[in-house]
Amino acid sequence: MEKLFLLMVMFATCCAAPRDMSGKVFTFPRESKIDLVKLLTHKQSFNALTTCLRYQTDLSRNHVLMSLATPTKFNAFVLFKPELDNTMRMHALDGVADFKSLAIAPNTWHSMCATWSSATGLAQLWLDGKATIKKFIKTGALTGQPISVLGQEQDTYGGGYDINQSFIGMITEVHMWDTVIPSTEIKRYMAEQYVTPGNVFNWRALEFEITGQVLVEDMRDVK
Ligand SMILES: *[C@@H]1O[C@H](CO)[C@@H](O)[C@H](O)[C@H]1NC(C)=O
Repeated sequence: MEKLFLLMVMFATCCAAPRDMSGKVFTFPRESKIDLVKLLTHKQSFNALTTCLRYQTDLSRNHVLMSLATPTKFNAFVLFKPELDNTMRMHALDGVADFKSLAIAPNTWHSMCATWSSATGLAQLWLDGKATIKKFIKTGALTGQPISVLGQEQDTYGGGYDINQSFIGMITEVHMWDTVIPSTEIKRYMAEQYVTPGNVFNWRALEFEITGQVLVEDMRDVK
């Protein structure tokens, strides 16, 4: 029984066939506490992170874009839009920083990248080609099998989803690297040019599992 469970866990966490998601988009069409996409990776230890994604939503309430939890840190790395105008919130290792005075127009496609370094604890957000100031969140390595989710905020490790923080809208071109990638690369991402794909999550070879009603659609059908 234990062996079976282990096998099931392995299947759940490691072996979804990678899919080339070029030209595709995840559509989150409703308010829900079950709809989500889990992104899968073998990596368990991070000294730095960069993640980039593009999204569109018409939400003004609290909502999450991506949440990464470890067994000991439920807000290990999170991109969260609080109800505060023009503010984006980033969590790292359960610490937090708000990036303010951003131009986040509703119902508009945005390109967003977030970086965090465990050595300096510094985080930076990029929105539509512009970098914010850097802010200190927390130092220290991020370790432990991560559960990475698009569309739901995790209040526990892989659970505790809150309908009132769920994402409604579209997300595409998600990448994550285990380094702070050069700003030249981030600018290329923002300009929709070729970037070296993420080595944690790679949109062009994405391992993921959908729960609930999230649709994979062609970008040309939504934009
Ligand atoms: C979500 O928000 C609605 C409206 O504000 C509220 O009635 C409901 O209790 C909230 N649900 C949860 C689970 O917090």
